[in-house]
Amino acid sequence: MNVNSLKAEFFSRFGGEARVFRAPGRVNLIGEHTDYNDGFVLPAAIGFATYVAAANRDDRTIRVSSSDLDGEYRFDLDDQGSRVQGWAKYVQGVALLLESEGFRLGGADILITGDIPIGAGLSSSAALEVATGFALTQLAGLDIDGMRLARICQKAEHKFAGVRSGIMDQFASIFGRDGHALFLDCRSMEWSAVPVSSRFLICNTRTKHDLAEGEYNKRRAECESAAAFFGKPTLRDVTVEDLERRSTEMPEIERRRARHVIYENRRVLDSVKALRSGDIAAFARLIDASHHSLRDDFQVSCRELDVMVEAAKRQPGVLAARMTGGGFGGCVIALMEEDAPPSIADLISAEYFAETGVMPEFYERRITGGVRELRERRRDLPEA
Ligand code: GLA
Repeated sequence: MNVNSLKAEFFSRFGGEARVFRAPGRVNLIGEHTDYNDGFVLPAAIGFATYVAAANRDDRTIRVSSSDLDGEYRFDLDDQGSRVQGWAKYVQGVALLLESEGFRLGGADILITGDIPIGAGLSSSAALEVATGFALTQLAGLDIDGMRLARICQKAEHKFAGVRSGIMDQFASIFGRDGHALFLDCRSMEWSAVPVSSRFLICNTRTKHDLAEGEYNKRRAECESAAAFFGKPTLRDVTVEDLERRSTEMPEIERRRARHVIYENRRVLDSVKALRSGDIAAFARLIDASHHSLRDDFQVSCRELDVMVEAAKRQPGVLAARMTGGGFGGCVIALMEEDAPPSIADLISAEYFAETGVMPEFYERRITGGVRELRERRRDLPEA
């Protein structure tokens, strides 16, 4: 994919000259299911992205189609009640929410493409929301604060896709920084960039269980109920000491959920320290512990993710591995030694296939910057 061919495709579908915007997907290094508990996360934007080619129209209609996905959709910016189906609901959600929050947009023609594996837990939907929201505000000549855009995109996920997601994915797609993970406090929304020089292999299980979205909302409710047990607004407000003192009185589910979130927050803080001091062995231990906690206490792993984690960890050159993202399928990230050979992917693949019968995929991607407009031809090529 390059900008000129996307512009050419735009021209043949809609006519006219388009501007092109890029929003990346993400991996989360650590801090899983902590964002909606007002906790800490450590994601990184990666060199997979959604590209939006867009041009103003002189009415209030948005027309949207995709090079890779079926369908052409249209909706009216003045019709807050209508709902389009399929993937375009993310586009409509962001556009209508921007409007209802006072950002006066114009109609636009939009062509979407990208290389983020869909449904793999690498935030293809957040990247679509962010790319669209950024493109529409830019076309309308509006300045929007990055955090405001992240919130509006998150709201689109809640209201148009029915998933009560946290802020992490949209935040990472907007604020990504080359070579850095993003350490975010989801309560204060303060963040800092943490340099990452380690290599990560992204291992796609190529499975996604249907229960993912329902279970996600359920986990969120269970966390709320666990916080209520302590009389606190969120699990961020519950300390390790509170938990240990009262854990035997708690119902089983709430105890497990609380234990994951409270210790995972601590693991994020420890990971930031480890990365800043170059203690990769400590970081590796935290990654492994995070997976165990997600598997046993938060119960959002699945057989394929566990098989992938174990297959990765058996390879010399892999220091640690964990599921990344919401769970119930999607991807594992494996932390690799600096000089790990590329053949590691083949070895993991063979073991994973033998146990699951599913052919996985592997990617090693740079950590990249966040959403931006693509202007220069030289920078058009997707970052590998
Ligand atoms: C999904 C959500 C995020 C976050 C992760 C789990 O990716 O969109 O907000 O909750 O799951 O850490």
